[in-house]
Amino acid sequence: MKNEELLSKKRSIELWDSNLINEIEVGTTKGLQEIHKYLFQDIFDFAGQIRNVNLSKGNFRFAPVLFLNENLKIIEQMPENTFDEIIEKYVEMNVAHPFREGNGRATRIWLDLIFKKNLKVCIDWAKVDKYEYLNAMERSPVNTLEIKHLLKSAITKDINSRQVFMRGIQNSYYYEGLYNYNIENLDK
Ligand SMILES: Nc1ncnc2c1ncn2[C@@H]1O[C@H](COP(=O)(O)OP(=O)(O)O)[C@@H](O)[C@H]1O
Ligand SMILES: [Mg+2]
Repeated sequence: MKNEELLSKKRSIELWDSNLINEIEVGTTKGLQEIHKYLFQDIFDFAGQIRNVNLSKGNFRFAPVLFLNENLKIIEQMPENTFDEIIEKYVEMNVAHPFREGNGRATRIWLDLIFKKNLKVCIDWAKVDKYEYLNAMERSPVNTLEIKHLLKSAITKDINSRQVFMRGIQNSYYYEGLYNYNIENLDK
């Protein structure tokens, strides 16, 4: 078994330090695939590839494979001019859930790139409680008020801060139950 947490956390650090993160296409499916491919290149043979199996979590079924490509084309065209529009786009991308695994971690980076480009802000994920976040995401296909409220309270203008990015990755992994490695200790 490959060490998913260790290998992909190292790739997250590299994504920032190599400045490759600033070359990712913003707000598109292609850009999200680039992020996914980079993070999970050592671990998943499907890194960066759109899934061809149906997926569900809890009681929720993500977009059926049959409509997935069509849905993704519509989602990437959604506007990103305001905070609310950006969250709505993020929620739809989560409903699409284009990858078999790793959607949460890749899509949160994708979301921050949209915020940075359009509003010159990003989310300080260290300020977003795991259980409030997961509850709000579970609720989001029906009602986006909770996730909007939660993420609005964690907005920062510190978009070029390496520290904000790294602790965000640490928390992003924590949401998904991966916290054996502290990203600060992996950092050279
Ligand atoms: N019941 C649910 N309904 C809608 N979205 C959910 C639900 N449960 C989890 N999510 C979203 O899915 C993400 C996890 O997707 P997953 O592909 O497992 O990504 P990762 O491997 O990075 O954890 C969570 O971070 C959350 O945003
Ligand atoms: Mg997962």
